Amino acid sequence: MRADRLPLVIDTDPGVDDAIAILAALAAPALDLRALTVVSGNAALETGVANAGGLLAFAGRDVPVHAGATRPLLRSILRGKYHGPSGMGPLALPPANRAPDPEHAVAFLVRSLREAARPGARRLTICAIGPLTNLALAIAQDPAVVAGIDRIVLMGGGFRTGGNRTPAAEFNILADPHAAAIVLGSGAPIVMAPLDVTQRAMATPARVAKLRALGGRYAVAVADLLDFFDRRDPDRYGSMGGPLHDPCTILYLLQPELFTARSAHVEICHDAGPAFGQTLADWWNLTDREPNAEILVDVDADGFFDRLGALLQAL
Ligand code: BDR
Ligand code: CA
Repeated sequence: MRADRLPLVIDTDPGVDDAIAILAALAAPALDLRALTVVSGNAALETGVANAGGLLAFAGRDVPVHAGATRPLLRSILRGKYHGPSGMGPLALPPANRAPDPEHAVAFLVRSLREAARPGARRLTICAIGPLTNLALAIAQDPAVVAGIDRIVLMGGGFRTGGNRTPAAEFNILADPHAAAIVLGSGAPIVMAPLDVTQRAMATPARVAKLRALGGRYAVAVADLLDFFDRRDPDRYGSMGGPLHDPCTILYLLQPELFTARSAHVEICHDAGPAFGQTLADWWNLTDREPNAEILVDVDADGFFDRLGALLQAL
């Protein structure tokens, strides 16, 4: 076991692409996945919790699963598209090997971040790949937890691309923009993987075929998930296939040199109207506000899929 493994919590609403991100994290020796905290989003909370437990059983791994928020802070519940009724597309998962941890996800985050903030303790990295409700509640409960965060690497937002659920808004931010505003305003170091980068991590038919050809139950399962996730919208994405959103966070942690990033101050629009859920970046520092996020804007997509394939083979 490597002593320098990065302590990681994944906050998730599994979710087809969440599942691929979780499998990638489980496969990476450099990551020490401490817990999955589940939030309402793509699927209802209890479905997401069952999917998280089922994925861990599928991967033969034992990681605590904590159930979190059942709904967004203020807005009505919004569910994902493209994930199928179970949230796992065509993947039939085994039942979880153990019950979810009785500690609520928000209580777990507050407790473990307080511990991580103590002198000499290792700070936690959080990959947030669903709506940001759990994290916002933890920060609202005790803003000092931010001192225990090494980085939040989140999938959310869309800048030059516009949105994917409204012309303005990306799903994770739109599903709880008030929570996103709390997290972006928290002072925690944040890396954002918005649609601008995830729509470049395209699961083209050739890349999916390459994954499938690797063989092994995980690469084949992910190829099946990606076939299901295919948007067949080449006019929009420049190729067949679907954008692979959530795994960008894990691949960024493992191989940041695959990505191009730019820092900017990001604001979340949460007033009612057509811009509800939009993310606005002050690319040219027009407001004189300090950047609050590093924004991933490009990726070496072939390098990304090669690394993903290698991880799945290693699982
Ligand atoms: C995000 O929305 C969800 O449906 C996906 O899992 C991803 O986290 C992409 O907009
Ligand atoms: Ca997700």
